[in-house]
Amino acid sequence: MTDEKNIKMRYQELISIINKHNLLYHSYDSPEISDSEYDNLYKELKIIESNNPKIIKINSPTQRVGASLLDHFDKIKHDIPMLSLSNAADESEFKDYYVRITKSLSSSNVELFAEPKFDGLAVSITYKDGKFDKAVTRGDGYIGEDVTQNVKTIKSIPLFIKDKHLPSKFTLKGEVFIDKKDFEIINKELNNKEDKKYSNPRNLAAGSIRQLDPLVASNRNLKLFIHGISDYEKFRHINKHDILIEHLKDLGFPINKYYKVLKNLDEAIHYFNEMKKTRNSIPYEIDGLVYRINNLTDYKTLGSTSKAPKWAIAYKFKALEALTRIRDVTFQVGRTGTITPVAELDKVNIGGVSVSRATLHNFSEIRSKDIHINDYVYVKRAGDVIPDIDRVELKKRNNVKKISTPKRCPSCNSLLSQLEGQIAFRCLNSKKCTPQIEQTIIHFISRKAMNIVGIGDQIIKELVSKKIISRSADLFILDKASFEKLDRVGDKSINNYLSAIEKSKTVTFDKFIFALGIKEVGEASSKSLARTFKSINEFLKCNKDNLIEINDIGPIVADNIIDFIKDSDNKKNITDLLNSGINLNYPSHTSNYKVVVITGKFLTLSRDEIINDLTKLGYHVSNTVSKKTEFLICGEKPGSKEKKANDLGIKIIYEDELVKLLAKAH
Ligand code: IVH
Repeated sequence: MTDEKNIKMRYQELISIINKHNLLYHSYDSPEISDSEYDNLYKELKIIESNNPKIIKINSPTQRVGASLLDHFDKIKHDIPMLSLSNAADESEFKDYYVRITKSLSSSNVELFAEPKFDGLAVSITYKDGKFDKAVTRGDGYIGEDVTQNVKTIKSIPLFIKDKHLPSKFTLKGEVFIDKKDFEIINKELNNKEDKKYSNPRNLAAGSIRQLDPLVASNRNLKLFIHGISDYEKFRHINKHDILIEHLKDLGFPINKYYKVLKNLDEAIHYFNEMKKTRNSIPYEIDGLVYRINNLTDYKTLGSTSKAPKWAIAYKFKALEALTRIRDVTFQVGRTGTITPVAELDKVNIGGVSVSRATLHNFSEIRSKDIHINDYVYVKRAGDVIPDIDRVELKKRNNVKKISTPKRCPSCNSLLSQLEGQIAFRCLNSKKCTPQIEQTIIHFISRKAMNIVGIGDQIIKELVSKKIISRSADLFILDKASFEKLDRVGDKSINNYLSAIEKSKTVTFDKFIFALGIKEVGEASSKSLARTFKSINEFLKCNKDNLIEINDIGPIVADNIIDFIKDSDNKKNITDLLNSGINLNYPSHTSNYKVVVITGKFLTLSRDEIINDLTKLGYHVSNTVSKKTEFLICGEKPGSKEKKANDLGIKIIYEDELVKLLAKAH
């Protein structure tokens, strides 16, 4: 066999292996290979593609993220309207439905197909001649938005299906969602960056699918399950929904593993009760089960109303939601002084948990949800997520009071400030405001910072309130006698605390920077800072120009850093920390790292991947092209950096060369 044939065969093989593992990982929670094995396969595929661009296939996993940034979403009419579902709120309504359909079908028993009702958003996906053609949101059921680019980034959806029996065109229906865990992670990142927070995974999934930049959507780890076919009549040879679903699964579509065929009403109810128990251990949110008649020929007999088909029903779990009254609104002070409004509620039981407070996030949330004191509100507890106010019950509104924005800090009473262009109020009295002192020290000892294991938040709060400590350096002068001043702390615990403090003294430079708790300096920025500055003393002497040259440090964060290190109390705290025997481990390559700059969009690589691999290879990624730049990595639509590099005579490398370079990282 020729080399060329060999490469083609290996290429095809890699595509099917990777697509298979994408499905196993993203749809069936059952990965069969490790992340690094997966990464290696992916890299191998990319190398083949960059050396042989002509053989690139549309179903290659590298073809998911298109390069184009949209400026709007086109409206598209659904060929077949995407209807909604009728609901059964409890067992008796579900039984009524079952009786109704058995009567309509003149039968005593009707076989049902059930699967979770995913709490995401509906999309229709059309394939033409086996190719993924377009994806459209449900919209109002008749007209939706063209989100093809974004749905394409979902790794489990096939881009090409080969099967000679498939109709030349067909449309699938599915639900796009985000795992609960990913929601927590992404929401936190967004919150740090943009002061923007989504209240649940569904909203985040909806926000992500409507991103105009497919690169952003692709980083949100969206997932999808297919639950039906709009034009099922095109699949004439199949007469049952479970067979259709198995067929789709065989073709490589992501199908939910919890589906079940139920022979009668008892089985249907039993399955509901089973799934109620399973619900919390499922990684994504479900809010009930969807039951449909398994026999597809009955769909026609039953038909639809203008709103919903009669052959299906959603039997909802009792919402983890309850109606209660807002007694009052109080304000909490966070580590960096941000004031968060909190609703004090009449105590209410939600899914077995007693709830008396819910976060209101920020003042724009209060305005957009039109929340007042004395309002009755629906409080939701979604999985592990903290209680949240979903909406106001306006019908019960009576004698309400406007929530006024606070003027003074609820803890230290100093005047609050509202920075220009920001909605948040802040207490600037960080040195004397108790919650800020407590939270700063709690952050300092946390796992990702100094990792002082075993000392809980309550101990820190007690040490602060008894004025034994007031800043992080004080931790290192604590002795047995200091801990003995606390309530109910035994000798054994004291020994553990002291040895944990001692152990934390050897720490990497980046964790130490992170532990300082500089506003908006997270783990990633701390790593960049640690890589940039040779020592803590050099870091303490930095200026704004040095800082903004560092990748992922913008002008605002740079100002925060400068403000922090200029402050005399902070300086003294750092000096005392270092004098107490803290031993900083510096990264080894700081002295001779090479600076590179990235610009433009890349077809086969995400920016995170590129930065990650470059870092592994010892490069330092900066934002600005300067004389110190080793080379510029140029993707599509590079902008002004390419010109600047040319002007300065800096070497430029393009995507194919980059792929080869990064292969060395693996
Ligand atoms: S079957 C004609 N199955 O719920 C609609 N829908 O409330 C037949 N949904 O718009 C839909 N999970 O997007 C079906 N497993 C599932 C579902 C599901 C979520 C959504 C669907 C629909 C909405 C109606």
